[in-house]
Amino acid sequence: MAGKSTYKPSTGIERWFDERLPVIRIMHDQFVEFPTPRNLNYWWTFGGILMFCLFVQLVTGIVLAMHYAPNEALAFDSIEHIMRNVNWGWLMRYTHAVGASMFFLAVYIHILRGLYYGSYKAPREILWILGVIIFMLMIATAFMGYSLPWGQMSFWAVTVITNLFGSFDALIPGLGTAIVEWVWGGFAVGNPTLNRLFSLHYLFPFMIVGVVLLHIWALHIPGNNNPTGIEIKAKKEALSFHPYYTVKDAFALSVFAILFAGFVFYAPNVLGHADNYVPADPLVTPAHIVPEWYFLPFYAILRAIPSKLFGVIAMFGSIMVLVLVPWLDTSRVRSASYRPIYKWFFWSFVVTGIALGYLGAMPPEGWYLIFGRAFTLYYFAFFLIVMPLVGLIETPTKMPGSITEDVLGRSKGATPTAEGAAASGAPAAPEKR
Ligand code: HEM
Repeated sequence: MAGKSTYKPSTGIERWFDERLPVIRIMHDQFVEFPTPRNLNYWWTFGGILMFCLFVQLVTGIVLAMHYAPNEALAFDSIEHIMRNVNWGWLMRYTHAVGASMFFLAVYIHILRGLYYGSYKAPREILWILGVIIFMLMIATAFMGYSLPWGQMSFWAVTVITNLFGSFDALIPGLGTAIVEWVWGGFAVGNPTLNRLFSLHYLFPFMIVGVVLLHIWALHIPGNNNPTGIEIKAKKEALSFHPYYTVKDAFALSVFAILFAGFVFYAPNVLGHADNYVPADPLVTPAHIVPEWYFLPFYAILRAIPSKLFGVIAMFGSIMVLVLVPWLDTSRVRSASYRPIYKWFFWSFVVTGIALGYLGAMPPEGWYLIFGRAFTLYYFAFFLIVMPLVGLIETPTKMPGSITEDVLGRSKGATPTAEGAAASGAPAAPEKR
């Protein structure tokens, strides 16, 4: 944590408050004075951007819920009512819909940053796992939100995804069907289904807020990792969070907001599917049922496997495997900047994610299917084979001895330490666990 509190109440009221409920002290120590490595790059601004996204989704979502009707006969029209009649309703709705995409864009960058710089490694495993829990909650929330307009894609996405539970029939006959009907609240996707999806879509974001608070808490125990992966050794290697990082985060957020606004005002529907402007019809199946872009890689994994049960296991497994990452990675150093072999595998993984995203939007046949299977294989191999093996065989490149040395160069660097000595050519010292 930040160490001893540096907060000094400046007025009598503040002192009175501080003795009874020291929230201002906590905010000051955690978000003003908090010692932050001085070498963080712009990839470290995405945590703040994600908090902004969460806030925007909550505010716009609460306003939308004031006008939305979670009933199968009214839902579609209530969305059109929001778009046409409610003051600024179009803005609320487009910001919320585009906001979901922006949220996922930011979270993918945030996760990849963690994978590149080894931010999941000791002592930040819990922080990472809390992140994975947030990611799962985000997936569930976005899926449920997409069902609410009750358009064709909403209806058929719910039908396809809820039916996945039916695969459990292969384990215990009847079990899958029982679960699916329980989830539906009937014998088909219908009004009870829409009602519960709305109820849970409202609840989950608040659960995300709770886990985000734990995530920040778990971050502030060891403090931030940084691009070198070397921990802070001297006081001068840290800057107070405010104003240095509040300004940097604000700048990055402004750039992100321009992109966000670009979509909202100039291309609000480009990230969605036109079929969702057709009211749900259980008697007409759309030609291609595709999820939103941010789910496409997982959809490709689901369809790459010929068995329904194993497809479902692979799809859930592709997310669950993230939990194991802190223990799968055997490398002695954190940052991929000093990992000549892992670096290549990491970028291949990024390409794999993009390729799976493309393939998820294509029909699962011919070459699309073959490539879908190949990339699915690499997706899992990256975690289960590359991470454990490369860490064992790779010799890290020359590392700076400290954050100071990384920022100012060797001559002005910190006094050599055990880890610093390794910088003069020898492989880096093992990280302390
Ligand atoms: C609502 C979603 C999320 C929010 C609001 C959030 C927020 C934050 C914030 C504010 C930070 C500190 C600033 C930064 O390092 O960027 C952070 C760090 C971190 N987050 Fe998240 N996060 C979210 C999701 C995730 C997910 C899904 C993962 C991983 C699966 C994750 C893993 C991490 C890790 C490992 C760090 C430490 C980074 C470091 O110091 O190197 N987070 N997060």
